[in-house]
Amino acid sequence: SGVEQLGDMIAEAKTIVPFTGAGISTECGIPDFRSPGGIWTRYRPIEFGEFVASQEARDESWRRRFAMEEVFAAARPGRGHRALASLYRAGKIPAVITQNIDNLHQASGFAAEHVIELHGNTTYAKCIGCGQSYPLDWVKQRFDQDGAAPNCTTCDEPVKTATISFGQMMPEDEMQRATLLSQACDLFIAIGSSLVVWPAAGFPMMAKNNGARLVIINREPTDQDDIADLVIRHDIGEALGPFVGN
Ligand code: OAD
Ligand code: ZN
Repeated sequence: SGVEQLGDMIAEAKTIVPFTGAGISTECGIPDFRSPGGIWTRYRPIEFGEFVASQEARDESWRRRFAMEEVFAAARPGRGHRALASLYRAGKIPAVITQNIDNLHQASGFAAEHVIELHGNTTYAKCIGCGQSYPLDWVKQRFDQDGAAPNCTTCDEPVKTATISFGQMMPEDEMQRATLLSQACDLFIAIGSSLVVWPAAGFPMMAKNNGARLVIINREPTDQDDIADLVIRHDIGEALGPFVGN
């Protein structure tokens, strides 16, 4: 089966780079974006320009985030996260590239510097002007008190979750590190992503073009199945469960 073949490829590989999307966290209770019931089937994205321009958009954005807080706070690493953490501890994985913002790779045992967050992190907030960090609790308190999303106490620019919205610049350092990792690995495994959002979706092909073998694990077809060496069209927890070690 595909999982058996994956086992052989993992055993043969020297350097494995996993690239994860929202599908790895659905078994943890966090919805993905494009499946039935996914975030973008319920909401229209608030683009960065709107967030900057409109207090109303900022308020709506924060209301959405607070509505998700119980889900994010309760989420624990799933079998996919734990399998990757085992391979990381075994020295097979130098770092994980993720589009996810849920902090679950860190929670599974990856050192923070070994989680390349292409789309940021939703477990804290940041001023879009000066970059100062804020705990979500602080934002919530201010929001409840003032009835509106707060601005930075230092520079008075809006405070946003530390995530990357559509229309927002990609983080340069993370893009650079993800590029180097994609070029240096001999096995690249795309897990739980529809592979439609760019530039993130460029990394599987970059790895492939640099000689790595490419595996895609996703229960639905993705945009890039045709360039993969192995496609495992299966539940991630089931596919990676056998690789959860100690
Ligand atoms: P998507 O929702 O586009 O894709 C998630 C994929 O995971 C879907 O193809 C599902 O079929 C699959 N999936 C879900 N649960 C699964 C499971 N248990 N087992 C196997 N497959 C499963 O999410 P992403 O590709 O991560 O960015 O989305 C990419 C970006 O689009 C996100 O980072 C976010 C979003 O807009 C920004 O907002 C900038
Ligand atoms: Zn500021």
